[in-house]
Amino acid sequence: MNINLEEKFAEQYDKKSDAIYFTPGRVNLIGEHIDYNGGLVMPCAITLGTWLAIAPNNDHKFRFKSLNFEIETTVESNILNEKDGSNWANYPIGVINEMIRDGKEITGLDFLFYGNIPIGSGLSSSASIEIATAYALNDYFNLGYDRLELVKMAKRVENDFIGLNSGIMDQFAVAFGEKNKAIVLDCETLKYKLVDVDLGNYVLAIINTNKPRELADSKYNERVAECQTALKLLNEEITLHYLCELNAEKFALHSHVITDETILNRATHVVKENDRVHLAAKALNSGNLEEFGRLMYASHQSLRNLYEVSGKELDAVVDFCTDYEHVIGARMTGAGFGGCAIALLEKGYEEDFAKYLTDYYVAKIGYHAAIYISEIGSGPTKL
Ligand code: GLA
Repeated sequence: MNINLEEKFAEQYDKKSDAIYFTPGRVNLIGEHIDYNGGLVMPCAITLGTWLAIAPNNDHKFRFKSLNFEIETTVESNILNEKDGSNWANYPIGVINEMIRDGKEITGLDFLFYGNIPIGSGLSSSASIEIATAYALNDYFNLGYDRLELVKMAKRVENDFIGLNSGIMDQFAVAFGEKNKAIVLDCETLKYKLVDVDLGNYVLAIINTNKPRELADSKYNERVAECQTALKLLNEEITLHYLCELNAEKFALHSHVITDETILNRATHVVKENDRVHLAAKALNSGNLEEFGRLMYASHQSLRNLYEVSGKELDAVVDFCTDYEHVIGARMTGAGFGGCAIALLEKGYEEDFAKYLTDYYVAKIGYHAAIYISEIGSGPTKL
């Protein structure tokens, strides 16, 4: 972190902070838009994230300040608070509501947040803020939640308070991430394995398209609803709780019940993407990075053509990567509609890649993309 949060806290609140916490963001290596369909996903935590400094106050209020946003918010402790438009503080407030609802005695705390995850970039800045708050309060007030309870709580905040019908992947990834490991998470059972990410002669590049994710939330909820429609139709013929209970072969036996082309495309993406994650996990375990890269490209094409959550900016990045000799796989990561892509880039070509991609992207899109070489980081900690 390039700022001194302790010092900033003292400037903002005129007193010393009592504790500082860190929670990462995440990238998803593969398995997109299938967490809410009971699929297998493969995210990992990154070293970009959210820092949170806290200290008690005596006036039974919660105060929220951030070095990233101008808006400061103060709410009463011990009451359930309403959502406040699109205020960033809705995320910590939503978490606090959940704890109050559970009967936890939490009161009087000043918060200062700082994050270096680009906002709206699909790297889970919101899950990072939610888990940062939940983890810090749990630790500070000794509330006794286990990590999975914090994850489920943060998901409820997204779904019920913020209004995004997202799956559990992001909150799980930022809470359970470990250094140099990917999480292979079954979103139906919540069983997971940590697998070593040994990229050998490659690095993981993150390319932020800098395209704001307009309408992302409403389009996201629309995709969730389309999957539910597909599930309902399939249930006329077989009993299923989630689309990902079917592999591509079994899906082909029943897909005739879906006559609407769009719904069929959505379901086809989901089922095939889930199969790809199973193959990708095997490829990673056996060190077959070429195969992993091929699956990344296939994932992107499916998100582009069948699920329709990419866009010209993300496609420009992936198209460039496809033609660039020293990249073996690339795809959009996260919800899509803008945000970030990831690429497996051969070591030693970081500068060359950045230069040529920048020229290509500016010529095609008209503004710059940002390129980071990412490290796989670990979950929440008290510093
Ligand atoms: C967002 C959601 C996740 C997941 C991804 C797409 O990040 O929060 O639950 O659905 O999109 O894979």
